[in-house]
Amino acid sequence: MRGIVIGLVVLGAVVLPAQRRRAGQASGLSLPEEAVAEGRKVYNQTCTVCHGVDGTLGDRGPALAGNRRYLRSTDEELLEAIRDGIPGTLMPPAGLSEEVVRKVVTYIRSLRVTAYDAPVKGDVARGEKIFWEKGQCGQCHVIQGKGGLVGPDLSNAGAQRTMSFLREALTKEKPRPPRGYQPVRVVTAQGQSVTGILKNEDSFSLQLLEANQKLRMFDRAELREVVYDAKSPMPSDYDKKLAPQELEDLLAFLSRQAVTRVRRQQLGDPQP
Ligand code: HEC
Ligand code: HEC
Repeated sequence: MRGIVIGLVVLGAVVLPAQRRRAGQASGLSLPEEAVAEGRKVYNQTCTVCHGVDGTLGDRGPALAGNRRYLRSTDEELLEAIRDGIPGTLMPPAGLSEEVVRKVVTYIRSLRVTAYDAPVKGDVARGEKIFWEKGQCGQCHVIQGKGGLVGPDLSNAGAQRTMSFLREALTKEKPRPPRGYQPVRVVTAQGQSVTGILKNEDSFSLQLLEANQKLRMFDRAELREVVYDAKSPMPSDYDKKLAPQELEDLLAFLSRQAVTRVRRQQLGDPQP
């Protein structure tokens, strides 16, 4: 009995800060914003020719931000690569003071941290309201068990994605719908037309999710027509549908969605 009580007290102590963080604005890592800004300025003057604007698209060098594995990930490894260059490659020594290189490292960090750990400008509570009301995001997305199934579950978006990924998801059209989210229309042998999201297919069958959340399975041999739509159902014009501050609020709310963090803390994992 005593053990259970102590266990609950400990659990409460660990869970509370996590919940406070999910509800409030304080972020886990909070990089010094000034260093990030200065590092960004230096980066844009000297590194974009090879690594692209905001480190997103490498032209002659690799992208420094985004969802990939990096060869160098610690601050010291980054510092060394930038200060000394990488021998035998195109990567030159920066020719900058160590103090300035440190700021550039901080900036690169800010590009890589997940949204949960990045500084946010918006208001989380207002963003939550926009998510369910004006933005109508809940028609297609689930958060914490509530919402529609057309799009991916966003309950862990802040812990999985970077800030720039989330921003782009809302404002940039993808060249093609990602796997599992392609709209498709089929016409059955009886002439019935059914539209939905393609969830699975092989040479013999095809599974699609209808707007009413029903999963339908079709035998390919019995279909008259299958038409693939090249456009994702995810609207990409929220920078026009929402005011700039509303978009920031919405992003702040998305950045707080982090179930794995909370669960890990509930299990007593000290890692933030
Ligand atoms: C002339 C082109 C060029 C310029 C300018 C340049 N880089 Fe690079 N950089 C590269 C190349 C190429 C690589 C990949 C080297 C390799 O193959 O390991 C690289 C690698 C890196 C890496 C390691 C990436 C990883 O995944 O390990 C970092 C960090 C980096 N550059 C930062 C910078 C910064 C910061 C600047 C500006 C101060 C800069 N680079 C300027 C070409 C360039
Ligand atoms: C008509 C349905 C629909 C609506 C409305 C919608 N989405 Fe989406 N969303 C999708 C689909 C489908 C995807 C997956 C395909 C893609 O990424 O293009 C997606 C992808 C996303 C992603 C990327 C998720 C990831 O990790 O890959 C984010 C973030 C997102 N939506 C947020 C939102 C927000 C916020 C709103 C409201 C402002 C919203 N969506 C409104 C259907 C929708």
